[in-house]
Amino acid sequence: MQQSPIIILGIESSCDDTAAAVISDGKILANVIANQDVHKAFGGVVPELASRAHQQNIVPVVDAALKKAGVDKKQISAVAFTNGPGLMGSLLVGSSFAKTFALALAIPIIEVNHMQGHILAHFITENDGTSNKPTFPFICLTVSGGHTQLVKVFDYFTMEVIGETIDDAAGEAFDKVAKMLQLPYPGGPLVDKYAKLGNATRFNFPHPKVEGLNFSFSGLKTSVLYFLQKEQQINPNFIEENLNDICASVQKTIVDILLINVKKALIKENINQIAIAGGVSANSELRTRLLELENENYKVFIPKFEYCTDNAAMIAITGYYKFLQGEYASQQITPNARMKI
Ligand code: KG4
Ligand code: ZN
Repeated sequence: MQQSPIIILGIESSCDDTAAAVISDGKILANVIANQDVHKAFGGVVPELASRAHQQNIVPVVDAALKKAGVDKKQISAVAFTNGPGLMGSLLVGSSFAKTFALALAIPIIEVNHMQGHILAHFITENDGTSNKPTFPFICLTVSGGHTQLVKVFDYFTMEVIGETIDDAAGEAFDKVAKMLQLPYPGGPLVDKYAKLGNATRFNFPHPKVEGLNFSFSGLKTSVLYFLQKEQQINPNFIEENLNDICASVQKTIVDILLINVKKALIKENINQIAIAGGVSANSELRTRLLELENENYKVFIPKFEYCTDNAAMIAITGYYKFLQGEYASQQITPNARMKI
């Protein structure tokens, strides 16, 4: 008799994206995301508005994912959900939904660490059976709006943070500079877009002095601010007239800072596989320059665009591996906004 597949419904609601995905025996069947435009007017995520929008979006998003997957809710084996890190109000919406839905279906719930999910996105198999998975151990550069970490990944659930930011995250640096340039939130993708048209060596910004494999981006933010204030005193139209070159120069500095430590980590740990994860891994310069490491005999793993920024496919795949180990959560579990890897 043929065994029925393991079907995991994944729920992600840690920040400002409401997402649901369905994975069957490790293969993706649906990956649905509702973005929240409401934050644009405020230049950043407003936690209270985010949780309200999650409440409005969660049922239609889950419904759309199940329909797209062609899966009936009675076929679901378990519900995996992000339990942290993230915004408490946002996490509560996803976790409450997951618990209630699973309780009604009498199936287990599986808690997922959002950052671990970003890393395990590399293990998603496409519906046509294709995949590009690193082998253990590998190093993962996890770069998002809230995190910048170098993680040594020993297996699905054994990970060690070997370097991290001591202040701002790389995505935050992109977004804060974008704000200074009067670009709407989130500015990272726009800096990337304008940088493509600019000269990256036109302006120079300093690199931080940080110990070991750690990062720092707050000094860069301050130096860009002073630089813009100084130039605008001379020419009030400085930003408009030089937008592409400013974006290209800042982006180059951020990518330089990231790649110096990536290279150091690979050498120090004597590992030849590097993966990237998190929203900033959508950045075109970071992707191109990481791929150049292949000329130095490193293997580079870059997830598909839709698995880079926040999504529920990464939560569902993590849930799948936890399901295989029987790692279920209790209905009493509460979100942990500061969950660590
Ligand atoms: O992982 P993510 O979707 O959410 C968090 O968990 O933070 O990452 C969002 C971050 C934002 O800071 C956004 O500006 C940045 O990723 N980002 C980019 C690009 N696309 C998204 N930064 C630079 N270039 C991009 N193309
Ligand atoms: Zn994220």
